[in-house]
Amino acid sequence: MTCSGTWSRHSRNRTRGPMKILLVGNGGREHAIAWKLKCDDPSVEIICASGNAGMTDVAECIPVKAEDVRGLLGYAERADVELTIVGPEAPLALGIVDAFREKGRAIFGPTRAAAEIETSKRFAKTLLLGAGIPTATASHHSEPLSALRAVDGMGAPVVIKASGLAAGKGVVIARSREEAERAIYMMLEDRVFGDAGAEILIEEFMEGEELSLFVLTDGTNALPMIAAQDHKRLLDGDIGPNTGGMGAYAPVSIATDSAMSAAMDRIILPTLAALRKEGRPFSGLLYVGLMITESGPRVVEFNCRFGDPETETLLPLLTSSLLDPIYAIGRGEKLNVSTSLQWSGECAATTVLAAHGYPDTPRKGDGIRLPAPPKGIYLFHAATLRTEDTGELLTNGGRVLAITGTGKTLEAASKCSLEFAERVAFEGKQFRRDIGWRDLGRSAGAA
Ligand code: AMP
Ligand code: GLY
Repeated sequence: MTCSGTWSRHSRNRTRGPMKILLVGNGGREHAIAWKLKCDDPSVEIICASGNAGMTDVAECIPVKAEDVRGLLGYAERADVELTIVGPEAPLALGIVDAFREKGRAIFGPTRAAAEIETSKRFAKTLLLGAGIPTATASHHSEPLSALRAVDGMGAPVVIKASGLAAGKGVVIARSREEAERAIYMMLEDRVFGDAGAEILIEEFMEGEELSLFVLTDGTNALPMIAAQDHKRLLDGDIGPNTGGMGAYAPVSIATDSAMSAAMDRIILPTLAALRKEGRPFSGLLYVGLMITESGPRVVEFNCRFGDPETETLLPLLTSSLLDPIYAIGRGEKLNVSTSLQWSGECAATTVLAAHGYPDTPRKGDGIRLPAPPKGIYLFHAATLRTEDTGELLTNGGRVLAITGTGKTLEAASKCSLEFAERVAFEGKQFRRDIGWRDLGRSAGAA
């Protein structure tokens, strides 16, 4: 995979030798981050906990789990890691950043208290509504009858959400009162999401199209990336069950300059200010899921980390350094926002290849036949494993590979991603053939 990056200008004292970076996580997102950091500065040594079969090209993988905060801290101390970068939300929710900072170790990611912007929908909603940031109105309930009264007050369609972390599955868009009632009992009484559904939100339904917007932030200053559009449903045409994300593309035509400056001025900067006021300054990567409505962008949700697969889409397009801002933020320094992030001007489309049975019961252990990726393709591994004895590549979880195609147009990028997705073979492979369909439809309509 070719690097289009400019070399890093990160202002580090190089007499310390090559910089060691500990990257926590094992998905396509982490593979893309590791690859980009290596593009920015080929001398960095990346250690990934626990990584995957594809990451061994750019990182050393160690068998320490992302949730093992003590094990990760112990490793960082023993190996004198200079900077730790946290991929997934679970270690953030466990307070990995607090633990590292207590020991004076540089780490990129928010504290446990700031990460609640993702891990507690109640906290996020109260913060947003309290600060007058555009989002859907909502109320919190732990009793089915009070939840039903709220549904009656709002009318269908209405959104029912588990308040805690439910692996992206704790949301039901109920088109009728009956559907709403079923969802309420399923979450509060049957506890299908466990304790994450001990409290639920009844939320106003927002009509519009969604975007994922990422900003790198030191808590006050923010550098936005270009927006991407995720494809959360399993099947073509946005039908079937919700997943972690089956594909993404960027740039997106509805992410106009005016929509993006409204998002920064009315959403991102006020949210960072509200978090500071709460005594929970947020540094790291703030991901806002936006609904672009007739009245402008509104918040669907916040995440406290890079998104997956949007990261695999965006990083091949980023020509300026990712290491520089991450290094500054991780060390608690002020982010330089005098120059914005630079982009190649090309388009990218990512197709996720998922395992048989994904999202409910992904099968592991299917052999993968992986041709060499052609030019313009960025191949990121997610749930892959190489057997020790024969070196065979196997599926090892739900989302197996992320294939990013790039090109001058979205049409070229998504065609190139799809062609390669078809050539990769494993038993039970599932993928979408319509990545970018909204913008492809709009450009076809305009032609
Ligand atoms: P969340 O886990 O909060 O991101 O919700 C998952 C998905 O449900 C979102 O990506 C949206 O597609 C949809 N969704 C959540 N909340 C709303 C809302 N208030 N109005 C419309 N769609 C929503
Ligand atoms: N692509 C959705 C997420 O990362 O949460």
